[in-house]
Amino acid sequence: MTSIATAAATPTAPSQIDTLSLEGLNPADPQWFVDDTIGNLLRRLRLEDPVHRSHSPVPGIGDYWSVTRYRDIMQVEMHPAIYSSDWSVGGISLMDFPPGEQQLQMFIAMDPPRHDEQRKAVSPIAAQGNLDGWEGLIRERTCKVLDSLPRGETFDWVDRVSIELTSMMLATLFDFPQEERRRLTHWSDLATSNKLTNPDAPEPEVRMAGLREMLGCFMKLWNERVNAPPRADLVSMLAHSPATRNMTPLEFMGNLVLLIVGGNDTTRNTMTGGLLALLQHPGQMKKLRADPSLIGSMVTEVIRWQTPLAYMRRTATQDTELGGKQIRKGDKLALWYLSANRDEAMIPQPDEFIIDRPMPRLHLSFGFGIHRCVGNRIADLQLRILWEELLRRGTEIELMGEPKRVRSSFVHGFSQMPVRIVS
Ligand code: HEM
Repeated sequence: MTSIATAAATPTAPSQIDTLSLEGLNPADPQWFVDDTIGNLLRRLRLEDPVHRSHSPVPGIGDYWSVTRYRDIMQVEMHPAIYSSDWSVGGISLMDFPPGEQQLQMFIAMDPPRHDEQRKAVSPIAAQGNLDGWEGLIRERTCKVLDSLPRGETFDWVDRVSIELTSMMLATLFDFPQEERRRLTHWSDLATSNKLTNPDAPEPEVRMAGLREMLGCFMKLWNERVNAPPRADLVSMLAHSPATRNMTPLEFMGNLVLLIVGGNDTTRNTMTGGLLALLQHPGQMKKLRADPSLIGSMVTEVIRWQTPLAYMRRTATQDTELGGKQIRKGDKLALWYLSANRDEAMIPQPDEFIIDRPMPRLHLSFGFGIHRCVGNRIADLQLRILWEELLRRGTEIELMGEPKRVRSSFVHGFSQMPVRIVS
């Protein structure tokens, strides 16, 4: 089997990060992500001020606590009554909604008991029987996508592979028409866009019009399925469960956004980040090719390495203490999973990409506690099959330029990655 060509490793901490004043430092500035210096910044906070009073000049974000140590994040996740996810106190993103504006309601941004009831309605989607049933279908599609890639010419891995495969899967999860699957990608991109932090993002009216179009389209599917016998797709599950069948349109829209973004951006960026990591670590690629039984632990390592959702927000419901800092009722906290996954106090050699780590599952990429990812096994399955088929073909890929990173401090990913298949 041939080896995949190498690319330069990501540069280490630019020297100015080590000398910046910590006061009011703002890891939620998307520029750190575009420049790929966020890891250096978070390391400094983790080592010097692990529960840090951060400040963003963006209206609607303002002051927040940056929680960067693994153990402190676990402490927060284990106490959802003290640290709320509920949309009514701010939800899961650092950006507050302007007063009076309607906020999308989704169960990731709800506290118990409503959270638990709505989660239960859709969690059977990842049941073992479904995963087994999809395996052949995912493999067939993966083969088709890989076999259709151009040879010897540059193409965008994000568009041709990562988006293509994840949008197909998403269409399957919703039983949405496959030929219209790119609409799901479009809605997912709209839902996560934000004009306040990204000047290139669509105007708020355009965003809302797109989401309304999504709602209209899914309302049709809902109406078809609510009167039909229950089936194993997400729309049918929402339409038939006692916890979700009487949702308001805003809740339906919110949960659609959750399921579309949850199943889309995250897996997509892990598909891209995984290839990049292996191209940047040729020794690990060689090890993988020599022993494909390492694919399972490699996929887990890639999910840690990429951490496709950089943080989740919580809001304190009472005065409390965390990591020696006094947290006041109403304070918001960013749980930086991206930092926890590089925490030297928990993870041996955290800055090394090691596909056969002894404890690969020691990471917080899927969160922890009552909100832990519903779709983690679906993501695992897609990633495993992609790598099985790439290895089986002995595909040799080379990086043809710097990947372009998404301008967001929430979604940690790539909008483009030019590559070429050498053979
Ligand atoms: C929740 C990450 C794939 C659906 C979460 C959370 C994280 C996460 C960090 C926790 C949020 C919190 O603590 O507030 C990821 C990553 C993925 C992935 C890294 C892929 C590598 C998927 C897929 C689906 C999905 C394929 C499919 C539908 C969800 C849902 C929740 C969730 C519905 C909300 C759970 C709750 O609030 O109880 N995910 N996810 N995710 N994820 Fe994923």
